[in-house]
Amino acid sequence: MSSTLFRTKKVEQSILDTEEPEHALKKSLSALDLTVFGVGVIIGTGIFVLTGKAAKENAGPAVALAFVVAGVVCALAALCYAEFASTVPVAGSAYTFSYASLGELPAWIIGWDLVLEFALGTAVVAVGWSGYIASLMENVGWHLPDALGTREGADGFGFDILAAALVLVLTAILVLGTKLSARVTSVVVAIKVTVVLTVIIAGAFFIKGENYDEFIPEAKPVGEDSESLQSPLIQLMFGWAPSDFGVMGIFTAASIVFFAFIGFDVVATAAEETRNPQRDMPRGILGSLFICTALYVAVSIVVTGMQHYEQLDVNAPLAEAFKDTGHPWFAGFISFGAAVGLTTVCMILLLGQTRVFFAMSRDGLLPRFFSQVHPRFRTPHRPTILLGVLIAILAGFTPLGELAELVNIGTLFAFVVVAIGVIILRRTRPDLHRAFRTPWVPVIPILSVGASLWLMINLPAETWVRFGIWMAAGFVVYFLYGRSHSRLGKHQETTMQDIVEGHPHEDR
Ligand code: ALA
Repeated sequence: MSSTLFRTKKVEQSILDTEEPEHALKKSLSALDLTVFGVGVIIGTGIFVLTGKAAKENAGPAVALAFVVAGVVCALAALCYAEFASTVPVAGSAYTFSYASLGELPAWIIGWDLVLEFALGTAVVAVGWSGYIASLMENVGWHLPDALGTREGADGFGFDILAAALVLVLTAILVLGTKLSARVTSVVVAIKVTVVLTVIIAGAFFIKGENYDEFIPEAKPVGEDSESLQSPLIQLMFGWAPSDFGVMGIFTAASIVFFAFIGFDVVATAAEETRNPQRDMPRGILGSLFICTALYVAVSIVVTGMQHYEQLDVNAPLAEAFKDTGHPWFAGFISFGAAVGLTTVCMILLLGQTRVFFAMSRDGLLPRFFSQVHPRFRTPHRPTILLGVLIAILAGFTPLGELAELVNIGTLFAFVVVAIGVIILRRTRPDLHRAFRTPWVPVIPILSVGASLWLMINLPAETWVRFGIWMAAGFVVYFLYGRSHSRLGKHQETTMQDIVEGHPHEDR
């Protein structure tokens, strides 16, 4: 049994599968497209929304250091991702990589985990978008009823109608084709980067030195919830009195703002649609990660300098900081740019999500029905529509913070698997051509595993519980469906039968 659980899909087979006409995606993206795509998805709700929350609740102005910590964790993971993406250039990101290196069950686990990352990530960004639209509407005196605004604003029942509507519109656009979305993406990325630079440059003039006092606020015990599952796992593990701020607060904040970096791994999911993945993938991934880290540190220093961290807004902090300094015009411009920018993030996460689902279905681990591409648009329309509707409902009903933490744990877990995969694949398939090689293997992958685990244990214990439930559900689906429908499994069975019956077989 263990041999079937750990059966691996040959890298060559993965590449071959993408060439079957009715299951093939268009190859149209270049290195520049990928970098734009990367920046397009990386800069989003993390910097536009979570900065405020993490500064206010966990780290104060030291949220800038939290971005550095999270950036380092991501850079380590990016070095591993880049090797994998350039070795196994097919749709499905970490899922495909693990199928080629660790085996079917680990690949399933990671695929299931990525579904969580991207689906909930899309919802998080849609909710962030809705916060900025609400801030923009306020500028012209419009207010949505609380029950239809962001969940944070709702008292009791609430449905974030703007967030849900955004997801549905983007779903329709994705069904029509990736090329359209890539073109739109480049314009939107330009607007988004302009807005971020505006925050940095204009905001720098409104910094008040006293707001940095104290830069790392003293650790404070958390209130009556101290025993609850809302404390970071590490504090419960070691029996520490749960606290916010202080040095540990920086790590808690890092485990939250980590969300701001999610996306460079999504670039890897587009490998199959890239013209020269071997060369362009690593460039796209590392380049976009570097640009974003620099911008985040600058933005967080500026914003916590403009407004005292205790006063920061949690729904639209960058715009509200400008309103607070008496510059509503800037605030309006930022809200507009954020809203436009978050649209592409949401769309690309949705795209990454459908591509993972598509790859899993093409392998037979999920019903093959989902991997038939649309005859005219050549897009995986079925998973796109199914997941789009589910995510829209989720985005409408769920608060942002909890979703983001769950997304982070899922993503960090994927990083752990990918880093281990790099080490294993080097041993099992040293012959494979690697356009990009992770330096200092196994040191970098091991550091990547350690750093990702460190951020994971800084997430709340309840996030671990939710993650555990999701993964347990994944095991049930795999054992009830995936294992017996796996194409790889069927292929191996046929091959065995041919050998037993003495028929020649074609090895594909
Ligand atoms: N990194 C993306 C964001 O911050 C997902 O929204």
